[in-house]
Amino acid sequence: MKQLLMNRNEVFQRPSPKVLNTLKNFKAEHVNRYFDEIDGYYNSILIPKISKIFGISDKQVIISYGEEDFFRTVFERLSLQKDFILTSQLHYSYLDKYLYFKGINLLTFRMYEKDKNFVFDVEDCIKQYQKFNPKVILIASPNNPTGNSLSVTELEKILKNTRVETLVIFDEAYYGFDEGYNQQAFLSLLNKYANLVLLRSFSKRYALAGFRIGFALCGVNIKNLLNYQNRYLGLSRILEEVAIAALESEDYYKKISSEIIGDREYFIKSVRNFNNFKPFNSKANFVFMRVASGDIIKQMQDAFTKEEVIIGKFMDDNLLRVTIGYNEYTRKFLKLLERIDNLN
Ligand SMILES: Cc1ncc(COP(=O)(O)O)c(C=O)c1O
Repeated sequence: MKQLLMNRNEVFQRPSPKVLNTLKNFKAEHVNRYFDEIDGYYNSILIPKISKIFGISDKQVIISYGEEDFFRTVFERLSLQKDFILTSQLHYSYLDKYLYFKGINLLTFRMYEKDKNFVFDVEDCIKQYQKFNPKVILIASPNNPTGNSLSVTELEKILKNTRVETLVIFDEAYYGFDEGYNQQAFLSLLNKYANLVLLRSFSKRYALAGFRIGFALCGVNIKNLLNYQNRYLGLSRILEEVAIAALESEDYYKKISSEIIGDREYFIKSVRNFNNFKPFNSKANFVFMRVASGDIIKQMQDAFTKEEVIIGKFMDDNLLRVTIGYNEYTRKFLKLLERIDNLN
């Protein structure tokens, strides 16, 4: 049986009608030119759009082929074996794979469980920073895989304790699934801290993972710190047009986000009725949970082999991450958990 893997936190809803129309009506004459980033011969159209929406100078915007491309730009400037990156104890698995391959040291600060949440230990982050002087602090908020976020006050506390030569990257790949998020408060930090980057992706909220588009909103010193050279020949024009169409489809994407948020909260509430699974609160399109024992994990792994659609992903330590997207799959997965819970 060919299984459909839906456990990588992608958003499976269709992109907005405006995005689809942009693709359908894309003009061939738009591809016969280069589109330099800024101040070039024929300029990016996405950078001024982002600059306008977020109210920052176009010189403080970097666009990239997904966040991954931006990460590579950062990591390529680090010295092998010598430089450190500091991130949270539980983090995006790509970092381990890529940095290990590159020979760059990854340091972590502590996270802990408190009531129904995973929490970043901000004090430990500052302590590790002072001890090891990493070149980069990278925090995903909401964090993958734990789903918790860092408040603006906590981020500012970290920024106050870092030197301006340290790049602080706030990875907001999972932006859009937290109803309490105060965008203006985070944006205002960019004016105060020249070493801050707010990193965004079109992969999740805008359901465009396969297109590979991301952007960075940068404090004024970021391009210097990265020794960043604007892309001489620009980014792909079709991606720029698609990204603009997505940014202009807020109502459509808000609706999808609220459906996902509703589904997530329903899932968490339902799982709290079971004895063998402990879900943590989440601000993202996935839920992280603790499973009572390795034995139950084994039963789940067996059950997974018979499923057509897989939305759960096992992590170390009896932990499981569940991608929330379609109500139908969430409900089916709840039934599977209930069945296993009743057996134990
Ligand atoms: C925390 C985090 N950051 C970044 C990414 C990748 O983003 P992009 O698709 O824009 O490269 C992911 C993908 O799963 C992620 O989990």
